[in-house]
Amino acid sequence: MSKDNNTRAIFATKFGAIATTVGSAVGLGNIWRFPYEAGVHGGGAFMICYIMFLFLLGVPVLCAEFCMGRSSRCNVFGAYNRLSDEKGWKITGLIGIIASLMILSFYSVVAGWTVEYCFTSLTGQLNFHDRTKGHSQFVELTTGDRPIIWTVIFLICNFVILNRGVTKGIERASNILMPILFLLLIAFCINSFTLPGCKDGIKFLFKPDFTKIEPSVLLGAMGQAFFSLSLGLGCMMTYASYFSKSTKLGNMALTIASLDLLVAVLAGIVIFPAVFSFGLSPEAGPTLVFEVLPFIFNQLPAGVIWATLFFLLLFMASLTSTVSMSEISITYLCEEKNMSRKKATIISSLIALIGGILCTLSFGSLSDFKICGLTIFNLFDYISSNIFLPIGGMICSIFVGWKMKKDLIMKEFTNDGSMKFYTLTLLIFFLKYLCPIAIFIIFLNSIGIL
Ligand code: TRP
Repeated sequence: MSKDNNTRAIFATKFGAIATTVGSAVGLGNIWRFPYEAGVHGGGAFMICYIMFLFLLGVPVLCAEFCMGRSSRCNVFGAYNRLSDEKGWKITGLIGIIASLMILSFYSVVAGWTVEYCFTSLTGQLNFHDRTKGHSQFVELTTGDRPIIWTVIFLICNFVILNRGVTKGIERASNILMPILFLLLIAFCINSFTLPGCKDGIKFLFKPDFTKIEPSVLLGAMGQAFFSLSLGLGCMMTYASYFSKSTKLGNMALTIASLDLLVAVLAGIVIFPAVFSFGLSPEAGPTLVFEVLPFIFNQLPAGVIWATLFFLLLFMASLTSTVSMSEISITYLCEEKNMSRKKATIISSLIALIGGILCTLSFGSLSDFKICGLTIFNLFDYISSNIFLPIGGMICSIFVGWKMKKDLIMKEFTNDGSMKFYTLTLLIFFLKYLCPIAIFIIFLNSIGIL
């Protein structure tokens, strides 16, 4: 049973609502995943596709999740259940809950690395003076069973914030963490402009070479847009259920997408000038950020302080994202299973802990344990990001486009008729046709059919 609407928490301030939602979107996806994806997929070519998908597909699906969340004021399972009489839809909610726990498990491992890097730089053990060491140091720090401790520390921090509840814990933490994060990134960007390879780096990131736009670039950019906006699993739906009645959903979706893009671009401006200044390859893949950063710290005065601050920033960005992922299962347990928030938080954290430990062991004792040729870490990443995420996004867009009552959608986007929303017809057209078809193409590709 879902709780009465009136007993539900609501974000205390408009700033809090934006900071928390941006906090979910901005995370390792922007600062760690975006630069390496852009690097692998040709820089400017990827960038232009990414921006296109962010606004043409991401924003409409984000609007759909916001609409369902605020209209139902429910967890993702309850939202499908309340908004439709047909029983089948709520399975999407269950998929979202399971997939969010899977993402939480492998995400915590990478987030654990950021905690480890933060500590090793703070204690002066991070070597960024020897430029040849970037890669070997990364391997040394992240392989074996020992990194479990960092995954666990990260998940404990996640638990502490979640346990304090939506407005006290999550909103307050985001109000402080998000602005600090922006300021730190801007400071690093200013530094980037002093590097000798600045021009090449900026050119790589912003000058599109249209000949490089091939299907894999399009598909990579689409997947990145979804991951980065936290779409597909009902994460944004859950947050929208905490929006106040006066929140303008359309504006909110555009604001979140723009700020999310800004952070990804800032991260790119931090990373690529350094890559070109120090003669590294932009195509290094997932290790890119961890390998390039030592070079940046090396040429800064008081490098230890900057190194510590940067990893603290990555840690904070990850934390505000994992809090949002956890919230999907916590609201489900509280509202559908009638659990206290504390009990729900403990249960979902324990599941994430088990998943997180298994994923960490994929780089240690369980590195030879493979299912369908993938380690547990890779399997969780593959199933959740490549299968559940696109399916969830597609179903949500079909649900709002085809099933949800038009007057209910209208009510949400005009705030009960108190304002105009001129683009409703366009939005519904996108949700009915463009988004499901485009997402279906990513999905076919991710399971290897295309
Ligand atoms: N968007 C986050 C990032 O960029 C990750 C994230 C948070 C996410 N919640 C999600 C991804 C829900 C998919 C679904 O790091």
